[in-house]
Amino acid sequence: MSGKGKVKVGIIGSRFEADIHAESFRLMPEEAEVVAVASPTPGNAEKLAKRYEIPRVFTDYKQMLLEKDIEMVTITAPNRLHAQMTVDIARAGKHVVCEKPLCMTLEEADVMIDTCRKEGVLLMYAEELFFTPKYVKAKEMADQGAFGKIYLVKQSEKHFGPHGDWFWDVEQSGGGVFMDMGCHGIAFCYWFLGRPKIKNVFCQMGTYVHTDKTKGEDNSICILEFAGGAVGMIEDSWARRGGMDDCIEIYGEGGVTYADLHMGNALPTFSAHGYGYAVEKAPTTKGWTYPVFEELWNYGFPQEMHHFARCVRGKEKPQATGEDGRLVQEVLYAGYQSAGAGRKIELPFRPEGVQRPVDLWYEPIT
Ligand SMILES: NC(=O)c1ccc[n+]([C@@H]2O[C@H](COP(=O)([O-])OP(=O)(O)OC[C@H]3O[C@@H](n4cnc5c(N)ncnc54)[C@H](O)[C@@H]3O)[C@@H](O)[C@H]2O)c1
Repeated sequence: MSGKGKVKVGIIGSRFEADIHAESFRLMPEEAEVVAVASPTPGNAEKLAKRYEIPRVFTDYKQMLLEKDIEMVTITAPNRLHAQMTVDIARAGKHVVCEKPLCMTLEEADVMIDTCRKEGVLLMYAEELFFTPKYVKAKEMADQGAFGKIYLVKQSEKHFGPHGDWFWDVEQSGGGVFMDMGCHGIAFCYWFLGRPKIKNVFCQMGTYVHTDKTKGEDNSICILEFAGGAVGMIEDSWARRGGMDDCIEIYGEGGVTYADLHMGNALPTFSAHGYGYAVEKAPTTKGWTYPVFEELWNYGFPQEMHHFARCVRGKEKPQATGEDGRLVQEVLYAGYQSAGAGRKIELPFRPEGVQRPVDLWYEPIT
């Protein structure tokens, strides 16, 4: 490894999030370049490689890990594969960027963190909400005292359900919408408030619309109580029609701010005929729609990947780490347990031997 010049990146996976990573590096090319992609489905990696002029293509990611010049590998594969992939990447001496949620179990999280530490590589947790420009602005104002003492931080993400089959299969995902998107909200509230201790978790969830598709929950509400008195409230849905909705609300003794990720960056549009693309998860481009511009930038993905590449070069310290991912994982456990048991769960909550977080909803530990 040269340790100089642009960080050479390999991507594992070739579909939704892989495309976002590749496009993010293309949008901010100063620090890193994607030199390889690995994905098992014949043809898929080639297609991504062609779109982004990625020179090397592999069907087996372990072959990609043999490439000496690759310094950082991003994981955009289903959740159940994150832990093993992280271990393999770290053992190959490469830095890891792991998509959310970090993994399936707390045991896996420990192994991921320990292996990366032992191998001397970074484990960076891809939580783009730490880089979302509107949300970063809200945090800057909060840190400057704009809202005084904050008592409530809300984050919600809602749409009509994910694009890939594996998300609906709890064996592969570990849970439904709380696992998939609640992990964003948990990380967001924690980060926004300056990483205070989380005292307890209360959660309600159900499968309201997609009972034919999944054993996972498709709507969840989660309340976190933090040391210092602030409350986090996280709402997530795969049952909400009408495309993507991602919002925050911040309430303090001295003020309030609201941010809607997609509105204000959108063009209220009516089309009888439809057009190419409006926004993530939008079911149609006919009638009234709200197409966004610079979508990835507004989410913060390019800024996130740029930051991670700078961390590899020692120019910045990771703002989102394996430890953040592990804490989120613990709160996911506590949330499922809370929904199953119908009561608040105090942290720390680290039951051993859980196979999938959602199991704690089906059968809470007594
Ligand atoms: N940060 C975000 O907002 C965000 C958004 C979407 C997805 N994600 C996360 O990214 C990950 C991938 O989600 P996605 O939406 O891209 O899913 P997807 O179904 O679109 O793509 C999954 C990819 O993983 C690949 N894959 C499967 N098994 C593999 C293996 N053994 N080796 C290598 N590659 C393998 C598939 O071929 C496919 O290319 C998930 O963990 C998801 O939670 C994060």
